[in-house]
Amino acid sequence: MLNTRPSDMKRITTAELADKFIDEQVAEVRAQVGDKKVLLALSGGVDSSVVAALLIKAIGKQLVCVHVNHGLMRKGESEQVIEVFGKELDANLIYVDATDRFLDLLKGVSAPETKRKIIGGEFIKVFDEEASKLKGISFLAQGTIYPDIIESDGVKAHHNVGGLPEDMQFELVEPIRLLYKDEVRVVGKRLGLPAGMVDRQPFPGPGLGVRCLGAITRDRLHALREADAILREEFDKNGLAGKVWQYFIAVPDMKSVGVKDGKRYEGWPAIIRAVNTVDAMTATIEEIPYSLLHRITDRITHEVDGINRVLLDLTPKPIGTIEWE
Ligand code: XMP
Repeated sequence: MLNTRPSDMKRITTAELADKFIDEQVAEVRAQVGDKKVLLALSGGVDSSVVAALLIKAIGKQLVCVHVNHGLMRKGESEQVIEVFGKELDANLIYVDATDRFLDLLKGVSAPETKRKIIGGEFIKVFDEEASKLKGISFLAQGTIYPDIIESDGVKAHHNVGGLPEDMQFELVEPIRLLYKDEVRVVGKRLGLPAGMVDRQPFPGPGLGVRCLGAITRDRLHALREADAILREEFDKNGLAGKVWQYFIAVPDMKSVGVKDGKRYEGWPAIIRAVNTVDAMTATIEEIPYSLLHRITDRITHEVDGINRVLLDLTPKPIGTIEWE
């Protein structure tokens, strides 16, 4: 399998180039896989979604997608995976709601690295359990892209929860391994994936787990998810979605005193983080119009139970990292 991008490989920027790539990959995957079955961990992120769509086109029901909902997804994300892949593309999709398993394990755990390890480890376990229930799987598909190959040892093994069991004895299918992210997006659009899926901003594997700071509780996680959905909706409606590279809410494990309906109201603060960057190594702060900040504050404090303040993080990277954990 070719693992170095040929120097004469054109950057895929147009629909025509994307179509040509898709045709080539469909033929290559069919030749590699034959009539065997392929397993894919489908997170709903850009890379795994594009691989899923490509493989559905190439081998249809020979592809088995497993979507593990770890309970730390953003609002509507797992639902979108089910809608797009399960219904529209009629994929062979196994949906596992493992929310309770993850949240039970995370109960009382506040150290960021321990949280990440628990989430990553449990993800592998759940996926492994699903895989072992299936019969006759010969291949494992992965959404490895070219930067993953350049930056790591050739497989998508970085700190994502997509890292899979090392002892899985499958041959790999990695149809987008020579593509850069922008090319993956062009290809995804030509495969008919919705813009909301293909243009998604980066989302950490451990999901909202690294934004629900400290020990995760279900009520604070719920508040975070709702506040984040409001932020995303308002950025979308007000033209900021295309201008800001990554934006989200973090909710710390602390309360302050407020007042609601004439009564004392203790609540958590929702922290807005909205950054611009090229490679996520450094980041700058995007200016957000005050009128929009007021509107977001008003909506979050009125619509989300448990939140009584909205704060704006103005810290560039360095010195702050993009995520809070
Ligand atoms: P930091 O917080 O290190 O984040 O400035 C840089 C970029 O990486 C994303 N990020 C992750 N992505 N798995 C991922 O796939 C992770 O565990 C993870 N942690 C951080 C972060 O959202 C930002 O875009």
